[in-house]
Amino acid sequence: MNRKLFILIAILLVTLFCNKTKEVSENEKLVSAPKSKTEPIIPTPEDNKLNPDRIELGKILFFDPRLSGSNWISCATCHNPGLGFGDGLPTAIGHGMKVLGKNTPTIINSAFGTKMFWDGRANSLEEQALGPIQAAGEMNQKMDELLLELKAIKSYLVLFEKAYPKEGITPITIGKAIASFERTINSFDSPYDSYLKGDKTAMSESATRGLVIFSSKGKCTACHMGNNFTDNGFHNLGLKSNKTDLGRFAVVPIKSMKGAFKTPTLRDVALTSPYMHDGSYKTLEEVIEHYDRGGDEKSNLDPNMSPLGLTAEEKKDLVSFMIALTGKPKNLIIPELPQN
Ligand code: HEC
Ligand code: HEC
Repeated sequence: MNRKLFILIAILLVTLFCNKTKEVSENEKLVSAPKSKTEPIIPTPEDNKLNPDRIELGKILFFDPRLSGSNWISCATCHNPGLGFGDGLPTAIGHGMKVLGKNTPTIINSAFGTKMFWDGRANSLEEQALGPIQAAGEMNQKMDELLLELKAIKSYLVLFEKAYPKEGITPITIGKAIASFERTINSFDSPYDSYLKGDKTAMSESATRGLVIFSSKGKCTACHMGNNFTDNGFHNLGLKSNKTDLGRFAVVPIKSMKGAFKTPTLRDVALTSPYMHDGSYKTLEEVIEHYDRGGDEKSNLDPNMSPLGLTAEEKKDLVSFMIALTGKPKNLIIPELPQN
C-alpha cells in the first residue's frame, strides 16, 4: 500500500467516530459556532444551553477561592490554565495541603465527555462540579454555608439573576454555570487540525509518520478514537497501581472494569504531564514505553494491550504526533472577583 493511501486511512480511522452533532438553538449557535470543519458543535443539555452570561458567571465561580471552606482553593488552583488546566503534579494537593490519590485530569474538551472522573462516577459536568466543592479532601466547603456566602455578595445576586433568571443561587445554578464555562475550554485548532484541513506542512514528517503508527502498529485508535481521541470508555492498562485500585469496578461491579480507568482525551496532552490516573509517568516517552511493553500488572489487562515491538524511531514519531495535537493558547482573561 502506498504512503498517501495509508495516511488517508489513518485519518479516516481517527475521525470515524466523531462526536455526533445535534440540533442547536440560535443562542447556542452564537457561542459555539464551529470555527473549522474539525471543531465540533459543543453538546449542551436541554436545560442549560450556553449563553454569554452563563459562561461569564461560571468563569468567575471557577476562579473564586471563596467556593472552598478555607477560601484559599478555587477550581483553578488544581485546573490551572497555565498548566493545561491540570496542576502539573503526580496527584492533586487539596484542603490542608493533603496529597490526594488521583492525578488531576484536564478540563479541556470535557464538554465532549460522557462520564466524569477517572472512574466515571459523575454523569455530567453539572453534577461533577458540586463534588470537589464539598469533598473534605478537596475544597471542604459546606453547601449551605457557600449559598449564604454567595448570597451576601451583591454582584453575585445580579450575575446569577442574569444567567438564570428567577432560579436563584442554588447548588443547581452553581453547577450549571461552572459547567457552561467548562464547555468553552476546548482544543480543536492544533497543527493536526491544520493538516486535516489540507495544510500538509502543518505537521512535521515525524508527526505525519506518527499519525499512521497511531492507528496501525500502535493500536492507539482502539481506544483513543474520534475527534477528541477517546472512546469515553474504561480500560485496564496494567499500571502497577492497578493491583490495588479498583477503578471503574467501584461504580460498575463487573470483572472487566477491575482496574479500568477512563480513556482521557489526547488533545493538548503535551501540556498536561504527569500522566495516567496515578500520575506515574512524567513524560510522553515513558507512556509510550508502557504501551510498548504491553503494560506491567497483567491481571485483568484490556484485550487491546499487548507488546507492540515499536522501533526507536516509531516511538519518537508517536510522541511527535501527540505534540502536534497541541492547540493554540486559550487567551483566557482571569476575571475580577465580585466584592461587596
Ligand atoms: C484539590 C484539587 C482540585 C480542585 C480544587 C478541583 N479539582 Fe477537579 N479534579 C481534581 C482531581 C484529582 C480529579 C480526578 C478525581 C477522580 O477522578 O477521582 C478532578 C476531576 C475533575 C473533572 C473531571 C474531568 C474528567 O475528564 O473526568 C472536572 C470536570 C473537574 N475536576 C472540574 C472541577 C471544578 C469545576 C472544580 C471547582 C468546583 C474542581 N474541579 C476543583 C482535582 C481538583
Ligand atoms: C486499551 C485502550 C487503550 C489503548 C490501546 C491505548 N490507550 Fe492510551 N489511555 C487509555 C486509558 C484508559 C488511559 C488512562 C489509563 C489510566 O490512567 O489508568 C490512557 C492514557 C494515555 C495517555 C496519558 C494521558 C493523560 O492525560 O494522562 C497517553 C499519552 C496515551 N494514553 C497515549 C496512547 C498511545 C500513544 C497509544 C498507542 C500506542 C495508546 N494510548 C493506546 C486507553 C488506551
